Amino acid sequence: MVSDSVLESGNLSGRNTLGLTAHADRVVAITHATQLEQALTDARPFGPITVLGGGSNVVMHPVQRGTVLLMDIRGRTLRADDGGRVVLRVGAGENWHELVLWCHHHGLHGLANLALIPGSVGAAPIQNIGAYGVEIAQRIRAVHVIHRETLATNVLAPEACQFRYRDSCFKHEEGAQWIITAVDLQLDRAAPVCLEYPALKERLQSADPTHDAVLAGVMSLRQEKLPDPVVTPNVGSFFKNPVLTQEEGDVLRERVSDVPLFPGPGGRIKVSAAWLIDRLAWRGVEKQGVKVSEAHALVLVGCGAQTAGPWLSLAADIVASVEGAFGLTLEMEPRVLGLPEVVAS
Ligand code: EPU
Repeated sequence: MVSDSVLESGNLSGRNTLGLTAHADRVVAITHATQLEQALTDARPFGPITVLGGGSNVVMHPVQRGTVLLMDIRGRTLRADDGGRVVLRVGAGENWHELVLWCHHHGLHGLANLALIPGSVGAAPIQNIGAYGVEIAQRIRAVHVIHRETLATNVLAPEACQFRYRDSCFKHEEGAQWIITAVDLQLDRAAPVCLEYPALKERLQSADPTHDAVLAGVMSLRQEKLPDPVVTPNVGSFFKNPVLTQEEGDVLRERVSDVPLFPGPGGRIKVSAAWLIDRLAWRGVEKQGVKVSEAHALVLVGCGAQTAGPWLSLAADIVASVEGAFGLTLEMEPRVLGLPEVVAS
């Protein structure tokens, strides 16, 4: 018998923001954490299990073998409230930006700088989403998970998640065994606004801006530079900014005197990947239906490509070009899922 949550169509084209043609053997919608134990057990005989949130940070090949679990677990519950600080438990399937707006309207501060980031709450800790001087890691109190193999549930403290720049344990072998079902966020009615990011500070006219002004400023900055994935296929930044040691930064600066270097995590140096790509005149270049955005050189946008191939091919060309010119290897930000189409011989 087919369970109610096994969807009849395995078509995932509407479930990835690049709008790529992709088909899975089985697709199962998960709307409650308690379904997962059974769903994982049922999926075993069918091969690999892929977990999908909003599909906003993936490049999907056409063939997805095995089972794709669509994480649609909803819910926002107040777990603690001392009148100032609040712990909010949020289901992995909640939309990130809707959550940011909801918190803002309820006077629960700390997330405004992360407005308009596409994707789901459950995907946010995986790549430790960050923008305009804030990373989600600063607001995470705990991550609720279930283990794919043992089916054990666990509540991971922030230290166990090993958050780094666009990275966490969930991207690496052991941590990738955990499936995120909910996230506990620490919010604060009295949190000060965060204006560390120079472009945001510049945008805000007042020396003492309100949370409303910061939210509006972040949203306007993003809307100018980053295309709306509902209108234009994209995954935001396609590459991470390389992080270098002080010494490596000095060597690069000697080679390229005007390269912008920023303070990075752990006293290291962050290089603007957008600038490197821009310097090599990639902005606006189009190949096989994928283009380097005119508005931001770190963003690739779709203009007709239906499959993953052209995205990965343009990305590989950019990586090779940056490596050749600057000796730096750019790392892709989105995850690549599935297998290229099997060509019949
Ligand atoms: N720049 C260029 N050419 C461009 C765009 C930018 O030379 O076409 C240079 C400028 O010097 C600019 C610098 O790059 O000052 C930094 O640009 P921006 O402020 O847009 O930040 P970013 O480092 O390119 C990162 C995140 C974004 C996030 C912004 C704002 C990564 C990989 N990307 O971009 O995150 O919104 O900072 O905080 O860290 C995402 O991850 O999908 C994403 C959009």
